[in-house]
Amino acid sequence: MSDNARQSENPLSEPSLTQEHLQALFEISQSVNSITEIGSLLERVMDIAIRAAEAERGFLVLGDGDALKVRTARNISPEIAMDETGFSRSIVKEVARSRHPILTADAQADPHFAGIESLIVKEIHAVASVPFHLRGRVLGAIYLDSKTRRSGFNPGTLAFLAAFANQAAIAIENAQLLENLRVENRLLRTQVDRHYGFSGLIGHSQKMQQVILLLRKIVNSDIPTLFEGESGTGKELAARALHNEGPRKHKPFMALYCGNIPEHLLESELFGHKKGAFTGAISDKHGLLEVYNGGTFFLDEVADIPPAIQAKLLRVLQDGEIRRVGDTETRHVDVRILSATNKALAKEVEKGRFREDLYYRLNVITVTMPPLREREGDIPLLVNHFLKKHAEKAGASVKRVTSKAMQILESYHWPGNVRELENAIERAIVLADDDDITPAELIIAPVPKTAVARKTLKQHEREIVLRSLEQTGGNKTRTAEILGVSLRWLHYKLAEWKRTEAK
Ligand SMILES: Nc1ncnc2c1ncn2[C@@H]1O[C@H](COP(=O)(O)OP(=O)(O)OP(=O)(O)O)[C@@H](O)[C@H]1O
Ligand SMILES: [Mg+2]
Repeated sequence: MSDNARQSENPLSEPSLTQEHLQALFEISQSVNSITEIGSLLERVMDIAIRAAEAERGFLVLGDGDALKVRTARNISPEIAMDETGFSRSIVKEVARSRHPILTADAQADPHFAGIESLIVKEIHAVASVPFHLRGRVLGAIYLDSKTRRSGFNPGTLAFLAAFANQAAIAIENAQLLENLRVENRLLRTQVDRHYGFSGLIGHSQKMQQVILLLRKIVNSDIPTLFEGESGTGKELAARALHNEGPRKHKPFMALYCGNIPEHLLESELFGHKKGAFTGAISDKHGLLEVYNGGTFFLDEVADIPPAIQAKLLRVLQDGEIRRVGDTETRHVDVRILSATNKALAKEVEKGRFREDLYYRLNVITVTMPPLREREGDIPLLVNHFLKKHAEKAGASVKRVTSKAMQILESYHWPGNVRELENAIERAIVLADDDDITPAELIIAPVPKTAVARKTLKQHEREIVLRSLEQTGGNKTRTAEILGVSLRWLHYKLAEWKRTEAK
């Protein structure tokens, strides 16, 4: 080993770090510690080291012993860096093994270079290498060299690099831990999904499992699919899941609500229009089907689409053709069409309100989303899912639902299905003072399942209103707020019940 190399085996004893070095170290440790993604962190570490030594080439390895792997490099290919016969490989190996930095300002005199015929190696004058180690464990090392400029390769720089590598080692270990957690989290998520769900669609009841099984079967096809089900049963969520898990996942997903939209507006939204096609059409406009070409198009409340537009949609499904309003040109689009309705579409066909041919095109596959009351055992699963989701969103600690409260949640009949359940949990998180969600925070009427069949909707309505009034101590404004109704409606109902009681 040359004098230079021996001299620098303990870089911190002599010479000491300058004021600039310390300042740079402080700044670097701050910026390096704020990067949590391992890839970007290593790039940053590499750049800082190259600049500090004014090196021309360099690379960074992670691992130990024979498992050293190049993770980033500058002006040198990873293969050359770790070439079996190469000198740089032997240097980083030695640095990692001994955990001591190496500095060689006269490379050709160094034994590492003896017998190496490579022309590039023959031109190298200076080499520096520092290890990353932490708590007695080696994480990897950095290698730097230079053909021309040797000024940066001095003991002061090496001392700086060694101190910097100590800082970087902490950041690298943290980022690696975080990366492992991310990988593990992803793995667990897919495992949970595999067992219980499908891209955020949760449920292990038999009915939901059947839905998920069906979705898995059709996810890779372009088959038009119709989602039927009561309000809040997850029709849109299922459609999004189908898109997110399918081959079009990198293309956009567009959900267009088709209910209660004036016909000409819906037509121009879907198909676009030509300038002057109607009053107000001041320029050419692309339709959404064109804009979202390649992606998935979700027609929400499809039963409400007026007949003229139904005819145009049929052409999209049959031939992938669209024509802008007022245009003669036909354009081609390639979109996967999904649709949803909470009306029984077959009935709409029977009544002559929906085209039969379009009906058969839209629902090559029908996915029927089961209402919550038929999803035996899913409520606790959903409750825990929403607890986590909304506690995170609200920045609150994750709450626990007491067994009494869970009982109430499980026995309620949920007319608004999953959406209503989700709202109830979101509200309870805000209302709960401590970590427990008790029946007091559940603003729903605890109607036992068995009683459901024997009561009319009106009776339920009355019971819910009166119970909420009781909970708010008779505060009507607050009761109306909680129930999501107007104060006028509440007054009207109370008066109506008074009248019937009086009879
Ligand atoms: N199986 C499920 N797992 C997790 N979340 C769900 C599930 N089903 C529904 N949700 C959630 O419930 C809410 C309502 O779902 P979504 O909007 O998909 O229902 P919908 O059937 O389209 O309702 P609507 O008929 O009223 O349009 C959403 O916040 C959705 O994320
Ligand atoms: Mg919907």
